[in-house]
Amino acid sequence: MKDNIDLLNDFNKNINEYITDVMENYSIGKNAKVITHGCQMNEHDSEKIEWLLEKMGYTLVEDIEDSDFVVLNTCSIRHSAEDKVYGQLGNLKPLKKRNPKLKVAVCGCMMQRNESREYVIDNFKNVDIIFGTNNIWKLPELIVRNYSTKELAIDIEETQEKFDDYLGANRLYSYKSYVNIMYGCNNFCTYCIVPFTRGREDSRNPEDILLEIKNLAKNGTKEITLLGQNVNSYGKTLNHPISFSDLLYKINDIDGIERIRFMTSHPKDISDELMYAFKDLDKLCNFLHLPIQSGSSRILNLMNRKYTKEDYLEKIYKIRNINPNIAISTDLMIGFPSESEEDFLETIDLVKKVEYDTAFTFIYSIREGTIAGRSKEQVPDKVKHERFEKLLDVLYPIQLKKNSEFIGKKCKVLVDDFSKNNKDYLSGRTEEFKLVNFKGTKEQIGNIVDVNITSANTFSLKGEIIE
Ligand code: SAH
Ligand code: SF4
Ligand code: F3S
Repeated sequence: MKDNIDLLNDFNKNINEYITDVMENYSIGKNAKVITHGCQMNEHDSEKIEWLLEKMGYTLVEDIEDSDFVVLNTCSIRHSAEDKVYGQLGNLKPLKKRNPKLKVAVCGCMMQRNESREYVIDNFKNVDIIFGTNNIWKLPELIVRNYSTKELAIDIEETQEKFDDYLGANRLYSYKSYVNIMYGCNNFCTYCIVPFTRGREDSRNPEDILLEIKNLAKNGTKEITLLGQNVNSYGKTLNHPISFSDLLYKINDIDGIERIRFMTSHPKDISDELMYAFKDLDKLCNFLHLPIQSGSSRILNLMNRKYTKEDYLEKIYKIRNINPNIAISTDLMIGFPSESEEDFLETIDLVKKVEYDTAFTFIYSIREGTIAGRSKEQVPDKVKHERFEKLLDVLYPIQLKKNSEFIGKKCKVLVDDFSKNNKDYLSGRTEEFKLVNFKGTKEQIGNIVDVNITSANTFSLKGEIIE
């Protein structure tokens, strides 16, 4: 097996080869656009793709109509996510007619699934390049291959070396950054496609993670979000295993980093050490995303989540006891196969007991190849939608109540940008991940400012900056 230095040399050679061969020998359009579907992992992968494209001499453009190279970074989590990509690929057909130079690449989770990849190959002849979630770095080579052979260039092969770690990232914000700490997932929740698209769990070396974060801090990053499908099992696959909380303590010591967040934490693996880290570590934000999925222990068992409603509640009470100020969010899934009205009412009961600050709510979607996808006891669509609406009717008033508790408080807010809905207002996030809108100036973007909260609604807070 080649070592990483050889790979790094290969990679640099690829880029050079690309620039000399392609840019000089072929007449190619240089405007590129990356379209991203799915979760933070994909968002971060797209940042790497954009970095690579700029290195290759492309200019990133906003409007798809102006682009000569479109990269679609896809998601498979629900049926609707895949349908959106098929729709976009269809829309690209006339664009390619208008701009014959246009090249189309498709990557991400859908391309890791044989069925979706074959469907794209068979139905969208306008696709030039396909690559998987672990070989973004091969993009220059694939472009060269496509230009020289004029045929679809594919690479979805999984390499042992997570060479994508060596890529830079064209980060959306200079003051907050995603950092991968692990890849893949070993949990095989029976509804979920991720273990099939992202492969087995694999942790990055702590030294590499710490070095990346130190470099980010030097370049102005104040907030980092650590990414992994189940960060609580971080470190188990390493030659010198370390725990996730040990990693957090080390990151907390890095000068310049002011806020630490992470996604996602599996309830079965959350440790006491991690709970205490929320009390001990000044930089770890008071916010925990702890997906429950369902309040019915029967359904949780069928989902292979490996905890019961009672186990989960015990963990919530414990962490609130250790840190009463922590904000908690979750993922909830409605209509898992065989979910009865009683099971659904258990979910409602759980939501009332926990009083979540926010929740992501999903309607169960059949994923071919998963155990739940083969179940004969699928819940009718109408029932799923009715339960979904009832769930929101319970969640939203709780969300409003939790937000209202912030009125009169002084919060530290990392300013993101001008508010999307009202350009007179800035918006940013509190430590608890509450969205706050307030009047301010452009110069405050990227800073952590003090804001007095004056009012609250279901999805955001309003406040006044303390100068
Ligand atoms: N690794 C994370 C979840 C990643 S997927 C965790 O275990 O918490 C994000 C969310 O998508 C899941 O929490 C789940 O609620 C939802 N999801 C996953 N598969 C789904 C499916 N087949 N249908 C509907 N929602 C799904
Ligand atoms: Fe999917 Fe479960 Fe892994 Fe999360 S932990 S990615 S829900 S299999
Ligand atoms: Fe989607 Fe893949 Fe993320 S399936 S949710 S983009 S890991």
